[in-house]
Amino acid sequence: MSRFAPVALTVTSALLVLTACGGGVQGTPGGSRVRDPYFPKAGNGGYDVTHYALDLAYDPDDRRLTGTAEITARAGKDLSAFDLDLKGMDVERVTVEGERARWSRNGQELVVRPHDELDKGETFRLTVRYAGTPQTITDADGSQEGWLPTVDGALALGEPMGSMAWFPGNHHPSDKASYDISVTVPEGLQVVSNGELADRSGDGDGGTTFHWRTAEPMASYLAALAIGDYDIRRSTVPVTGNSALPVYTAVAPSEEDSSREILSELPEIMEWAETNFGPYPFASTGAIIAREGAAGYALETQSRPVFPGAPGTGLFVHELVHQWFGNSVTPKSWRDMWLNEGFATYAEWLWEEDDGGDSAQETFDALYDHGEDDYEDLWSFPPAKPTSAAHISDDPVYQRGAMVIHKIRQTVGDDTFYDIVQGWAADHRHGNADTADFTAYVEEQAPDEDFDGIWEDWLYGDGKPAHP
Ligand code: TRP
Ligand code: ZN
Repeated sequence: MSRFAPVALTVTSALLVLTACGGGVQGTPGGSRVRDPYFPKAGNGGYDVTHYALDLAYDPDDRRLTGTAEITARAGKDLSAFDLDLKGMDVERVTVEGERARWSRNGQELVVRPHDELDKGETFRLTVRYAGTPQTITDADGSQEGWLPTVDGALALGEPMGSMAWFPGNHHPSDKASYDISVTVPEGLQVVSNGELADRSGDGDGGTTFHWRTAEPMASYLAALAIGDYDIRRSTVPVTGNSALPVYTAVAPSEEDSSREILSELPEIMEWAETNFGPYPFASTGAIIAREGAAGYALETQSRPVFPGAPGTGLFVHELVHQWFGNSVTPKSWRDMWLNEGFATYAEWLWEEDDGGDSAQETFDALYDHGEDDYEDLWSFPPAKPTSAAHISDDPVYQRGAMVIHKIRQTVGDDTFYDIVQGWAADHRHGNADTADFTAYVEEQAPDEDFDGIWEDWLYGDGKPAHP
């Protein structure tokens, strides 16, 4: 017997528990956080999600979302209770291993008390039935995420904390999982999400159900939903190990004309990115081009980035390269954000260099020389230590992050540089990594070089480094 129902505990049995040897151990709550330095309430302790199966329905007319999240997770310790993150929405019913569970809400925490405690190492299934009008969340830097209603549907975007607006989960990048996302919408509308379209059914009065599947691990901030009138196109592109990787693009009708040319560049960019960064990490690719203004920014949502209106080549390259850096190799915490944005920004510099434009060195020099005028805040904090959650998407993370990557390239030369970049992506493929993992990896790959100055001045140092 290894489970104790807390309500049945008497003082004597509690003492027995404390003194028992090799018998059952009483579980404790999992905790409402994973200690992210920038988002203290994000994520939860005590368990690890392996799969999300979301079965949702949305009606744009009344903006009501209803659904069930079936979550498969593994207990990291004996658990009497655990938390999920969910903002807004009405929870109707929670079960754990098929049994009704007690639950309560406390801000963004959904606290679940299973009928039977969970043992360390146990895989368990949790279902949460919920409904309501999902919220648009204003994040720390003032941008809007979560559920963004559009004229004919909605866009769901999650970086950094938006996914808790539309499904309960362990919403921290350190807990990646596979996904099945099914959404039923009124007839005539499309639903586009991450991964591959496993099934499409209905198409009648009951609406149409789209079932999207992502088999590779995905951080929840990279889950996307685009609901509305979209023009869908399918094609294939050859990549390493797959001569016909599915390409799935969705374009809002208003953006059709302006998007055609940039979308035709996708095969060339994929090939270029594989040459530079190694094998593409996912089983499909594409893009979602929503109506201009549907969101205030583009996002590298997994396998299928979202753009509000047709992107320029630089932005398209940026979001596609995030598939390697950010989506496959994911930060351990939001402090490591520069590992996403520094690489994606540096990829833009490299594309320009390879495309006959400015060299990366010229881009670097221009930033260094004119940084104070053009990028007032470029030197306001070092890339690896953003001042607060409000600043994780500021220029020091993007541009100065890219400058760190360029300094490494200057130090080791192109051959070793590309070995390092590809090796890093391969070593941490579908995993999580932090800044210390990265600097250790670089040092290992180029043991004869001294990187201390780069780390001290460019990565961790305050102010503008004295030498370019
Ligand atoms: N990551 C997005 C990009 O490629 C930008 C972005 C959107 C972002 N929302 C954010 C960054 C929230 C930090 C936080 O460039
Ligand atoms: Zn980016």
